Amino acid sequence: MRRLLAGQIGAGVGVFALDLALNMAGGVGLEAVWLVLAQGSLAALISRLLGLGAGWMGVQFALPWAAWGALMLELPSWVFLLIFVVLFALYRNAGAERVPLYLSNAITCKALGEIIDAQTPGDDPHFADLGAGFGGTLIDLAKSRPHWHFVGIESAPLVAMVARVRVAMAGHDTNKGNVEIRYHDLWDADLGQFDVVYAFLSPAPMPRLLEKARAEMKPGSILISNSFWADGVAYDECLEVNDRRQTQLYTLKF
Ligand SMILES: C[S@@+](CC[C@H](N)C(=O)[O-])C[C@H]1O[C@@H](n2cnc3c(N)ncnc32)[C@H](O)[C@@H]1O
Repeated sequence: MRRLLAGQIGAGVGVFALDLALNMAGGVGLEAVWLVLAQGSLAALISRLLGLGAGWMGVQFALPWAAWGALMLELPSWVFLLIFVVLFALYRNAGAERVPLYLSNAITCKALGEIIDAQTPGDDPHFADLGAGFGGTLIDLAKSRPHWHFVGIESAPLVAMVARVRVAMAGHDTNKGNVEIRYHDLWDADLGQFDVVYAFLSPAPMPRLLEKARAEMKPGSILISNSFWADGVAYDECLEVNDRRQTQLYTLKF
């Protein structure tokens, strides 16, 4: 994010200086279309020099055009506020937590189900999906496991709301309501309640999550992380799921 902003701000300063110099030299500045072209190109170049991947150059180039287009449309200002609120409600955790919203696929859910079925927990076993997204993983797993209680913890408001609606709509399938969505931060959850904890987050929170799991999870319980682990921390197994993205499920038994 910082490099994206640095690219646009750096380009803005450069384009402003160029326009000012042309104005002072000949009395005529650049037309808007050239300003936008210069802004996008320079921002793309700066962000590449700052080490962002090639794909981001396209984003940096397109941003000034999008901003210009939005100005041309003369939309009322509340539209931008509304777009911001919806995006925040969906992607709240992409900024500070550095965890975007993407979902476990059906093959991964099946592999998760096999891991759950291999456990021998006591009465009333509990499964947690930390950052439950739209709740699909839980609904899927709950279908054929009525004796398990599935808890999704999600802090993006719109995502949690959609998950709750989906769970309510799947009420019959999920065998008498053994799925629950809790709208709060995963860092406030007590992992000691759960026999299996699943997380599909990103590399950023993994060191902290593993520390939390080590401090709170009970003996015999298992942590499963989809795709991400922390450098230098041991795990018990890394299962390769036979899906298109060759998902890896890291497991650690306590
Ligand atoms: C990659 S998605 C995974 C969704 C779901 N677990 C699945 O496998 O389909 C990660 C989810 O974690 C949520 N999340 C990220 N940080 C969180 C936090 N601190 N507390 C609660 N939810 C969080 C995000 O909002 C997002 O919905």
